[in-house]
Amino acid sequence: MPKSRRRLRSARWFAPDNLVSFGHRARAKQLGWQDADFGKPVVAVVNTWSELNTCHAHFPERAADIKRGIAEAGGVPVELPAISLGEQLMKPSAMMFRNFLAMETEELLRAYPVDGAVVMGGCDKTTPGVLMGAISMNLPCIYVPAGAMMRGHFRGKTLGSGTDVWKYWDEKRAGHLSAAEWREIEFGIARTAGTCMTMGTAATMMIAAEALGFALPGSSSLPAVDSEHRRMARNAGARAVKMILDDYKPSDFLRAESFDNAITAVMAAGGSTNAVIHLTALARRCGIDLPLARFEQLAARTPVIANLKPTGKYVMEDLHRSGGIRALLRRVRSLLHTNAKTANGKTIGANIQGAKSYDDDVIRKLNNALASSGGLRVLRGTLAPHGCVIKPAAAAAHLHKHEGPALVFENIADLRKRIESPQLKVTPQSVLVLKNAGPIGGPGMPEWGQLPIPGKLLKRGVRDMLRISDARMSGTSYGACVLHVAPEAAAGGPLGLVENGDIISMDIAKGKLDLRADKNELARRRKKHSPQVMYDAESLSAYARLYIKHVRQANEGCDFDFAPNRPGAAEPFI
Ligand code: FES
Repeated sequence: MPKSRRRLRSARWFAPDNLVSFGHRARAKQLGWQDADFGKPVVAVVNTWSELNTCHAHFPERAADIKRGIAEAGGVPVELPAISLGEQLMKPSAMMFRNFLAMETEELLRAYPVDGAVVMGGCDKTTPGVLMGAISMNLPCIYVPAGAMMRGHFRGKTLGSGTDVWKYWDEKRAGHLSAAEWREIEFGIARTAGTCMTMGTAATMMIAAEALGFALPGSSSLPAVDSEHRRMARNAGARAVKMILDDYKPSDFLRAESFDNAITAVMAAGGSTNAVIHLTALARRCGIDLPLARFEQLAARTPVIANLKPTGKYVMEDLHRSGGIRALLRRVRSLLHTNAKTANGKTIGANIQGAKSYDDDVIRKLNNALASSGGLRVLRGTLAPHGCVIKPAAAAAHLHKHEGPALVFENIADLRKRIESPQLKVTPQSVLVLKNAGPIGGPGMPEWGQLPIPGKLLKRGVRDMLRISDARMSGTSYGACVLHVAPEAAAGGPLGLVENGDIISMDIAKGKLDLRADKNELARRRKKHSPQVMYDAESLSAYARLYIKHVRQANEGCDFDFAPNRPGAAEPFI
């Protein structure tokens, strides 16, 4: 074995002249390894593919592209399947399994003889899941984003994932869309492999990962089925080998400045509120303090310049043809820490050097932004002592300051049972409140935060109302939805004490969300309160029990309370 390579981690398994290593080498030879393979960098390809993760349908081909790049660069690729979090089909919420994927990624990399990794993600929780694991393990690692699917079509109009579903569903409920038309939308909205193509959580987190420094420049806006996506995957594989030889790890490039860059990218893109939770969790894994206030500060100074649904009108394919994420970041260069290092060994400033925008309506100039700030607002007050978030740019302007009586739903089943009732006592001024939909209450903090507008109001033309919950909201959603209320109802937060008719006031400009109720009355309610969660804790699975016992609240990133806040846990004894 070349001396320079004896320091490889995998050499601990393969190099010694003893019985244990004999077993390791013999079994590797069972897989077709040659003598010459021992001593080469072994690169894990952590593949979050499954036949029920619709957004990762192209991952078998992409994994092959990555492996080709690894082999061409002199490494040994080994594909390691990890739990595939398909956002649409996993229940109660893919979010409940993000920490599972984080643990699995970390433990796969720790338990096996690998020197570094390429981690594959895209569909919402997969990106933070693999990156949390990669950060904790801290081997040389690069991320390959799945890329977005191509645009949807309906009778000559573009269909955007999620965003247009909610829109047309409301039209159907209001009686403006036939069953046949609705069926056409079902066939036309998801046409290729790839993630949701609006600026939902998937696109947001892919962009955030690139701005953090984890991905090759320009990779996060490449459409999944573009041939350039294959070359990018191949190049990421090759780059992983070089990172291993240089011993270049996430801890060598992830700094507080990297997180500022990721937040700035998310805000400029009009990204999903889910980014707040995931970036907080990622920062914690690095040992970096990232309070909600930092999101607020960066949101306040960052204009929303990506004209993408749900905030704007285009989709990811349009961002790509207009110059992609590099062009977007180039436009907000003055707000970035351009010296932050990235996985390709260069700074983010160097990576966006010379990037050009080719359509100023898709990637707006700073003086023609969709909103001068307001990608995100953190609210606090008596209803959310530890904070909550709203996306002002996606909310009707007349609701940015609002006061009204609460209409309370104790849980999602209660909401679904009553929301269409003609007897529902609701007006456009009502504030819809959903309890018990948080990390513990859901469990798993499902994306129930875009509470439907009651059918009787829809028919009267109402399209937005103030809605408040401890849930999350799909990044493809829109509306005056206050999310991530912390502490959540099921953890004893004041949200759990709200009753019908209580007056709630929100003022986005002031960052306030208050429950106008007498203190003594609230104390009385608290004494007799028990959260109406929909599950019996005794009937939960082992993982679900672990989850509700140890998950942190939304303002802390929803990671487990026992997850170390620094990388590099002990290596296994061999
Ligand atoms: Fe996978 Fe939206 S369902 S990204």
